[in-house]
Amino acid sequence: MNIIISGAYQTKCGELWDKSLDDLIIESIDGSLVDASLEKKDIQAVFLGNKMASQVSDQNHLSALITQILGHCVPVVRVEAACASGGVAVSQACLALESGQYDNALVIGAEKMTDLPIDEISYALMHAASECERDAGLSFVGLYALMAQHYLQTFGATEQDLAFPAIKNHEHAKLNPNAQFPFSISAEQVMQSAMVADPLRLLHCSPITDGAAALILENKQKKSNQVQIAASVQTGETLSLSERKDITVLESTKKAAQLAYTQVGVSPEDIDLWEVHDCFSIAEILAVEDLGIFPKGEGFIGIRNQECAINSKNPVNISGGLKACGHPVGATGVKQVVEVYNQLKGRAGARQLDNPKVGLTHNVGGTGGTVVIHVLKK
Ligand code: COA
Repeated sequence: MNIIISGAYQTKCGELWDKSLDDLIIESIDGSLVDASLEKKDIQAVFLGNKMASQVSDQNHLSALITQILGHCVPVVRVEAACASGGVAVSQACLALESGQYDNALVIGAEKMTDLPIDEISYALMHAASECERDAGLSFVGLYALMAQHYLQTFGATEQDLAFPAIKNHEHAKLNPNAQFPFSISAEQVMQSAMVADPLRLLHCSPITDGAAALILENKQKKSNQVQIAASVQTGETLSLSERKDITVLESTKKAAQLAYTQVGVSPEDIDLWEVHDCFSIAEILAVEDLGIFPKGEGFIGIRNQECAINSKNPVNISGGLKACGHPVGATGVKQVVEVYNQLKGRAGARQLDNPKVGLTHNVGGTGGTVVIHVLKK
């Protein structure tokens, strides 16, 4: 695959009470167009990731809204795949460009979440789970808590070990001006934070976030200073955790990673940075194992030993990840690509790595029912 990224933009993440969903979409479109030196009239197709506009913003016809914002008869596809909506939007744009149908596409991920009370937004999020999981009274924290409990029992990790992904990602977020929580947290603070669903506490969780991100993709020959999407892979597995053989593995992540590595001709050792889906601390531990950074059952040890920190061999979630940069669910998959793009372009500010060449993004819908992986290369 040889899709060029020619523009990228991310809004601030957080409780943005002075901004509507439309405001976030408009800001991300304008920012990406300026970055790509293009105008609205130049855009040939749009792919939008969004999960919750009908519940939170009373708007379900976002495709027409975006056509209206762009001011010409451009086709817009809205993609919904739970928290992987953004990643699938990027992936669908890549496929459309590869087909030759368009020369360029705008990809937007946008989500407004903080306008609903926590009980309503938690229930709305559960539309991405199975009926039996909803009927059992589970939330997404509860579902990942089941995975965490089984992981702790199987691999001998402790509740304290679950704190380290969150501690690391909060440290990284201090370097990101767009992050929702740019402050340090200690293991003691994590262990003393409110229990949400045993063993997951408040500080193991990604927050409720407003935010948006956008990319301009083009189907053209790569020049030496440009960044390409070299692989875009979507996979899936069962909606219900109860239908899986092992809930300490996301087979969808393993499969997507294998396909992506093969397509690009790389192995995990060749990846210079990773943005992975850490919606809960256990999710990052599973991700670093399923992506092949660490053997099964050893991800928590690697993260605890600082082997995924910004200055390590395998920097994971330098943006602050979902935990501390924020998780505007339908925007997250686009935001991850924007982050890796900025790193490969050398414009990631205080968190810039020393000349990274290859980066990977990993975006999960639900408990793994949808997974999208992108590999970006300089
Ligand atoms: N991490 C760090 N701090 C958090 C936080 C988080 N995830 N969530 C809230 N806070 C902070 C708030 O900023 C607030 O701080 P303040 O008192 O200094 O203002 C405090 O904790 C209480 O916030 P509040 O909004 O009352 O929290 P809440 O109880 O309503 O929500 C969670 C906390 C964990 C339940 C909520 O963030 C949540 O549901 N997260 C998971 C979202 C999710 O499921 N996403 C989909 C994943 S698949």
